[in-house]
Amino acid sequence: MFDPIDHYLRKPDIPPGCTFAESDWRILAGFWHPVAFADDVGDAPVACTLLDVELVLFRTSRGVSAALDLCPHRGTRLSAGRIEDDVLVCPMHGFRFRHDGACVAIPSSGNPDARIPPRLRLGTVLTEERYGIVWACLSGEPSWPLPDWPGIGDPQLTKVRVPVDTWRAAASRHVENFNDVAHFPYVHAASFGNPDPAPIADYTVDETDYGLTFALPYLEGGDRFPDGRNAESREVTYTYQLTFPFSTIIVIAPDGSDYVQYFADAASPVSARETRVFQVMTDTYGPDRTEAIREALQINDEDKPLVEGQRPERLPLDLREEIHVPADRMSVAYRRALARKFGLGAPMAA
Ligand code: FES
Ligand SMILES: [Fe+2]
Repeated sequence: MFDPIDHYLRKPDIPPGCTFAESDWRILAGFWHPVAFADDVGDAPVACTLLDVELVLFRTSRGVSAALDLCPHRGTRLSAGRIEDDVLVCPMHGFRFRHDGACVAIPSSGNPDARIPPRLRLGTVLTEERYGIVWACLSGEPSWPLPDWPGIGDPQLTKVRVPVDTWRAAASRHVENFNDVAHFPYVHAASFGNPDPAPIADYTVDETDYGLTFALPYLEGGDRFPDGRNAESREVTYTYQLTFPFSTIIVIAPDGSDYVQYFADAASPVSARETRVFQVMTDTYGPDRTEAIREALQINDEDKPLVEGQRPERLPLDLREEIHVPADRMSVAYRRALARKFGLGAPMAA
């Protein structure tokens, strides 16, 4: 009598209307992706979408759990429910679900000892909390480690989060932009970019066990660093570390100073065309990071409309599709890795 409908969404799988090609979806489902700031998953369940799959996040004494946002009884959205006595309560008939997805009570049954069918359980998804971010892996078997971020992982440094923003662009488009240095004089002249477009120094991209890295010297216009120099411009070294597929940290070190800033960015692929951006910052300076957040918001606002307008919407992983110049070494290495190392790049679903 209690057998649930054998629904296509009993466990995470390609959802109806998926915007990714099936092969790309299956590859991306094997990675960890950010789905929420941990602080935002509190007393109430939270809805989010990852790779076109609608999820509910809920916190119990065992940490944050994630599951398909779908009650196995009658398909109601569990994110509209509530947390009570350490379980997730469905808003429709009050079935109660434990942190691991097992149903532990059916209020309408009247008999508290009635057997609950084992199939009456949530389609749970693997989660991990790190850097104040909840990460989820839909396949249940992560194919790649979480990013190992310097600075952000240092308990001595005060971390701040930039408010989550949604970009109407593919995650890989966002990541490529975050790792592009040749756009600074044009896109960021009003913030940190040097309006004189000097040639980009030769740099090399190295492949590591987590992804790609490169370092680049740059002359910033103005002085945004709180180390008391107040110079008209600053020589800075940016070191980028990209963890496949969509997480990057930039270590920003002004030359001749002990000051270091860390700017981490993790893009969550909501769909093939929509991305939620999670950013965490810290530095060696001190607790007041209000100004850094304002700068990050301005920098994002400068990038976002241009990235949202890029066509095709998918990142062209076949290098023959676009023209590349020497400053694009990182972008070329990134596209090549996504295609050759992981097999991504199938045409986007219509
Ligand atoms: S739909 Fe009936 S308990 Fe959830
Ligand atoms: Fe930018």
